[in-house]
Amino acid sequence: MTHVNAPTAGVALTAIGVALIRERESRRPDRLYDDPIATAFVDAARRDFTRTEEGAAKWERVEAVAEQFFAGRSVGVRLVDERVTEAVAAGCRQIVLLGAGLDTRAFRLGLPADLTVYELDLPELFAFKEPVLRAAGAIPTARRHVLPIDLRTDWAVPLQEQGFRPDEPTHWIDEGALPYLPPEDHRRAVATLTALSAPGSRFGLSRFAVDPEAPPYVELRRLVAGDDAGMPPLDAGRPGEQWLVEHGWRTRFRAWDDLIVALGRDVAVNDPKVGVVLAERV
Ligand SMILES: C[S@@+](CC[C@H](N)C(=O)[O-])C[C@H]1O[C@@H](n2cnc3c(N)ncnc32)[C@H](O)[C@@H]1O
Repeated sequence: MTHVNAPTAGVALTAIGVALIRERESRRPDRLYDDPIATAFVDAARRDFTRTEEGAAKWERVEAVAEQFFAGRSVGVRLVDERVTEAVAAGCRQIVLLGAGLDTRAFRLGLPADLTVYELDLPELFAFKEPVLRAAGAIPTARRHVLPIDLRTDWAVPLQEQGFRPDEPTHWIDEGALPYLPPEDHRRAVATLTALSAPGSRFGLSRFAVDPEAPPYVELRRLVAGDDAGMPPLDAGRPGEQWLVEHGWRTRFRAWDDLIVALGRDVAVNDPKVGVVLAERV
């Protein structure tokens, strides 16, 4: 069995937590989606972490945090799947995953062969992801382009060099990545994707009501930044619905509790202001 280095520190580590969530969901008889490749990522990461005692202790912490986020985050994956299916049905043939992590939608959603998925994430993430995919013999149903890049740098030019067409509608996915950027880089990333969005392009924003000082969030930040690191700044100054409206997007809000009603999971938040802002470029 080939050994692959997993991202055991830094923000790329968070992608392993989400793979653990998708792997766990896929094992349920009432699963909301099936992500068989998640098992390959989890197994390879576990093998790498547990080579040392320190790594094994960290692996336990990653598993514990993933467990705490499981219920809501797993339902969130399914909701993003639904938005992708809608976009494809509407004729969208470009999907860009910003901070793709160990996402496998190019493989598992039966996306059409004439659609292109662009995956952007840090080089250390793809140094782990690509060898695991190769060892698993995974074949995407759609075209798939991988762009190892830091989203704090200019990614618009490299994306277009891979064949991305700004004159065609795009479905943009930020599933828990852009909030890790400093607010000014987050704003620049949303401005960049706006500039690259032809009419009919889609994007989404979450409206949350979380306590960033709640224990799972504190532990997540410690795992990413190290136990001695100071706390990063809170969410202030990031682009929201108003920004999108002012920059050529038509938005509508869907409440989380309405979106999840058909899924049969006990994750209601009982707050009609929590949900997603779905944006379409006009
Ligand atoms: C919580 S994970 C989510 C991954 C994926 N979207 C999913 O749902 O499975 C956050 C991802 O954002 C990526 N990320 C964070 N900061 C980044 C940056 N500056 N440049 C590129 N990727 C970044 C991390 O490497 C990680 O894969």
